[in-house]
Amino acid sequence: MAWKKEPLPPYQDASQPVEARVRDLLSRMTLREKAAQMAQIERSVADRSAMAHHSVGSVLNSGGSVPRPSASAADWADMVDQMQRWALSSRLGIPFIYGTDAVHGHNNLLGATVFPHNVGLGATRNGDLARRIGEVTALEVRASGVHYTFAPCVAVCRDPRWGRCYESYGEDTEIVRMMTPIVSGLQGSPPEGHPAGYPFLAGSKNVVACAKHFVGDGGTDKGLNEGNTICSFEDLERIHMKPYLDCFAQGVCTVMVSYSSWNGRPLHSDRYLITDILKDKLGFKGFVISDWEGIDRLTKPLGSNYRYCVSASVNAGIDMIMVPHRYDKFLEDLIYLVEAGEIPMSRINDAVERILRVKFIAGLFEHPFSDRSLLNVVGCKEHRALAREAVRKSLVLLKNGKDPAKPFFPLNKNAHRILVTGSHADDIGYQCGGWTITWHGSSGRVTVGTTILDAVKEAVGEQTEVIYEACPSPATFANQDFSYAVVVVGEVPYAEFLGDRTELNIPLNGTQTVNLVAGEVPTVVIVISGRPLVLEPELLDKIEALVAAWLPGSEGGGVTDVLFGDHDFEGTLPVTWFKSFHQLPMNADHQSYDPLFPIGFGLRMGLDSGTQEEV
Ligand code: GLC
Repeated sequence: MAWKKEPLPPYQDASQPVEARVRDLLSRMTLREKAAQMAQIERSVADRSAMAHHSVGSVLNSGGSVPRPSASAADWADMVDQMQRWALSSRLGIPFIYGTDAVHGHNNLLGATVFPHNVGLGATRNGDLARRIGEVTALEVRASGVHYTFAPCVAVCRDPRWGRCYESYGEDTEIVRMMTPIVSGLQGSPPEGHPAGYPFLAGSKNVVACAKHFVGDGGTDKGLNEGNTICSFEDLERIHMKPYLDCFAQGVCTVMVSYSSWNGRPLHSDRYLITDILKDKLGFKGFVISDWEGIDRLTKPLGSNYRYCVSASVNAGIDMIMVPHRYDKFLEDLIYLVEAGEIPMSRINDAVERILRVKFIAGLFEHPFSDRSLLNVVGCKEHRALAREAVRKSLVLLKNGKDPAKPFFPLNKNAHRILVTGSHADDIGYQCGGWTITWHGSSGRVTVGTTILDAVKEAVGEQTEVIYEACPSPATFANQDFSYAVVVVGEVPYAEFLGDRTELNIPLNGTQTVNLVAGEVPTVVIVISGRPLVLEPELLDKIEALVAAWLPGSEGGGVTDVLFGDHDFEGTLPVTWFKSFHQLPMNADHQSYDPLFPIGFGLRMGLDSGTQEEV
């Protein structure tokens, strides 16, 4: 009797169509297994019980939550693979998906390449650059075993008082749309004719992406984080929703719901926007994920009536809940609500179908474990070269010489003596900003990189003396003359609500530093910030040149590549540079538009023509 090989069940057979595998697996799952697939939990609670016994669908790490301090990519991959072995040992062996906030490179991983934050990339208006950054980010994320990133943020930030302004590519919808090719970089480019809204992933060197935060997160009243966006549906569509269409056209796999509200209705319970519009009208077929404790915010105090939170959010159309800790309570309430008929089984099946669809398309059933051959790409020189290119293309030249007929740039790299000073001249942490190694970011040598001071020292001639003073004083200038000074000032790192502002002066006495130095020597000012800052007219008059460098990330060499004329400036403002904080909010389509520098402004050195001109 010849041994007859049992045919594989369709869901385990990679030759079967995705939708057939989804239907087959769904038909085999219990309600409890379906509910568990809808849970995303923090790595700190992702133990054998959660992964093997419950078969939880997804794990994430919060900003700064790492396998161990200074964990390597191999440590990350060991962690994810261990969770995967537990997941595959569950009754149906459904692989889990691990997500992280790789929002400007794999910014949680020490030594990974850290790219400019989105506001700086918006200054390039270069979609192909965004795509290339996505490709590299995907490689470094997969090298660590991670499958999924909560990026890109496609917020259209209409008010720079918002603590997440730097996560937005700009205040103009069309600029944000130009940068959405990062999705094709992260996930790979879908073939011609790929149905918009249907998830796509090219292969195991790509990551599942997440368009966030749906919808209107950048349009809240007064720029309040998690606030209320007050506008017509037509404006919500026109200003905030269009970038999602570009992401759907590229097959973005997931969408994250915004903490904010629209006309007083919390997005996390808005069935009209999530189901009627996002899923039905726009045809999104990936899965919709909540934000961190996003459903808990539906009641005050936070999560006080959790059963209501689960009911309202799941019935609104959210498929996966970023719980992230009390998943037993989530499972208990979700199952209760289904058995009580408050959440129809059809809603659960829709959610799990979408989750399974993304997992099958992501190849997790065929390639559940990390690819260790990628480990050496993390922070490699080719990736850092791309980041350096992105930095120099993001710089915006706002002033070039007190006398426009005598441009100050390019700087003389063979000058006799240069002063480099200011709070941000020698600080990787400040350069990278929030969402770097920790959630809010911090000062100091937080990861591998090149500070602007390091880069100046590398760039200048052997005869040039570089003097560094973190905090200059009149004594700095006694008995020594300087050809010129480079003063680097700006914002200290922040994330989310910690970045909401009621004033936008240059922190750490930055204005005073500039005034002191500019009173002594010809001065170039580099502003490191997630948004425009107040620049007094007298300060502007005193300095020779002004550059907006945004939050450039680990490769400070991209700044000096332009300062010393190896490349020209090409960036233009992706946001309005206001004169006064009290003008906010102020966008180009407003009646009283009276900026210091308008959106789109940017000078060139005119290296070829020798005269400065607008980009
Ligand atoms: C945060 C952010 C979101 C992020 C998520 C996971 O609160 O709102 O952008 O992806 O939680 O860290």
